[in-house]
Amino acid sequence: MCGIVGYIGKNNTTKILLDGLKELEYRGYDSAGIAVLNKDKIDVFKALGKLHNLEERINNTTTQDSYELGIGHTRWATHGQPTELNAHPHLGEYSYVVHNGIIENYKELKEELTALGHKFVSQTDTEVIVHLFENYNNKLNDTTKAFHSTIDRLEGAFSILLITKADPTKIFFFKHGSPLIVANGNEKEEVLFSSSDAPLIGLASDVVYLEDGVGGIATAKGIEFFNDNYSWSTLPTSKQFAQKDGFRFFMEKEIYEQSDVVGDCMLGRLNDEEILFDEIDKSLIEGINEIKICACGTSYHSGLTASYLFERLSKVKCNVEIASEFRYKDPLLTKDTLFIVISQSGETADTLEALKMAKAAGLKSLVVCNVDNSSMTRTADATILTRAGIEKGVASTKAFTTQTVVLWMLALYFGKAKNVLQSDKLQNELKALREVPKSLIIDDKIHEKTKRLSKRYLHGHGFFFIGRDVFFPLALEGALKLKEISYLHAEGYPAGEMKHGPIALADPELFTIALMPENLLYDKIKSNVEELSARDSTICSISPLKFDLSDDFIKTKKTDHYMLEFFEMLIALQLLSMEISVRLGNDVDMPRNLAKSVTVE
Ligand code: F6R
Repeated sequence: MCGIVGYIGKNNTTKILLDGLKELEYRGYDSAGIAVLNKDKIDVFKALGKLHNLEERINNTTTQDSYELGIGHTRWATHGQPTELNAHPHLGEYSYVVHNGIIENYKELKEELTALGHKFVSQTDTEVIVHLFENYNNKLNDTTKAFHSTIDRLEGAFSILLITKADPTKIFFFKHGSPLIVANGNEKEEVLFSSSDAPLIGLASDVVYLEDGVGGIATAKGIEFFNDNYSWSTLPTSKQFAQKDGFRFFMEKEIYEQSDVVGDCMLGRLNDEEILFDEIDKSLIEGINEIKICACGTSYHSGLTASYLFERLSKVKCNVEIASEFRYKDPLLTKDTLFIVISQSGETADTLEALKMAKAAGLKSLVVCNVDNSSMTRTADATILTRAGIEKGVASTKAFTTQTVVLWMLALYFGKAKNVLQSDKLQNELKALREVPKSLIIDDKIHEKTKRLSKRYLHGHGFFFIGRDVFFPLALEGALKLKEISYLHAEGYPAGEMKHGPIALADPELFTIALMPENLLYDKIKSNVEELSARDSTICSISPLKFDLSDDFIKTKKTDHYMLEFFEMLIALQLLSMEISVRLGNDVDMPRNLAKSVTVE
């Protein structure tokens, strides 16, 4: 979690750091801070909450200094409350550090350093880094050796930028676990750092996506790496996806974008007869009898959806696990299993570790991911990019849609490769796939309806989202969307399970959002909803068919494939949760307590 930036150069250091942090704010917004250096003087500015608080604080200071270099941080609290004292950059006696990750052995280090007379002011794990550095530097009188000795003592995940009055022309950096990019700026004698591409676009084109275990020292004269394990890449140039394009929120823009990005996602990947994935070498699926999917959150829901599709269309045994559970259960892994991880960011710590475990066990691996050059794409044997473009809303929308489309295509690809898909069945699936972009074009009437309904669903003691088959993971996703941006309690449930316990909760204050597709198990879900209605639960059905017992009804278009209904219903669920959040006055794009990329376990 958290985002870090760094700058050395002749431009306005404070502005470049703040602009960079703005791009990274989605990674955490409990607090933000910068440390900027002018000759041998370091000024520090910190503020709680969103970045504009920090901006205001800086604007209200009368300092006229120009700064030669600086580091910055936007925080998602892990150790220690979101307070100003716990905000980065952290100070020793004469050095400052920003850090993304978790120092697992910070307690031992803190005890050791406290016994040596170091004074700690925060509750964070990060503060030990700067004290450790100064402890070594005081002994060795050599900043480079002190930095190396510091790194050697740290356990856990840490991407670090450190500046010190003891060597005021340098930024020391190191990457382990959490992402970090270093770039040569477009101007002379300019070096930039960032946790992701976005802040660097337009300012730099030559970048190094640092590998774990790589660090170095940057000055205005250039970058010196500690080892040869790095290579330069060219940065993409387009920032257009990062703008709101007239929508109220990034989430809204991203919901509306889904039709287009799904088109991009399918581009060149399907022809009249088959699915084509240039990214997959045939050897990846040779000898595979089983698929195991691992992911977190929304990506897990797309995995769960895919498990139905893999078994139905490719006749491959498929199971899905939540990455944080998988990691510690001593899983039984066999080499005829293809291990698939799904991740928007490609940086989620639990998913990344699960992938590493599978690789260590000798399994072939594939990542379905939205961010190229991310830790997961660099680790897996093969990558299929979802091509959703930058997703800025913390609540994931278009990433889920593109993941699901990729996995559906993958199920067909497998089915064809294994010769288990009849040609007419495959044709039918391909036809449906081609219609997905159309099914994601938003009908004004549906958006208006969700706005009207949002008024009604603000109270009550909870929501149940129910569905069957692939509509069960969709129900989970609908409930997650509502929870994360409205802060209302919601549960996704398999419709057939309600009578095994949860139906006891049914009363008019229990809102049931029922996903009732015409093309899949309609009669079954209908009777599940009837049972709830008979117990006075308030029902909102989403379906192409009017259901007499429902109190509210969102009408989706008639289609002839359940997956097209799936995507239509997804849009309705996303809009409904967004409109409820708007009505409650919440921050739609940056809901409380959440961060876009969860790089700690
Ligand atoms: C919910 C959401 C999260 C992520 C989860 C995994 O809207 O965005 O649940 O899906 O944190 O993140 P990725 O996909 O980046 O691995």
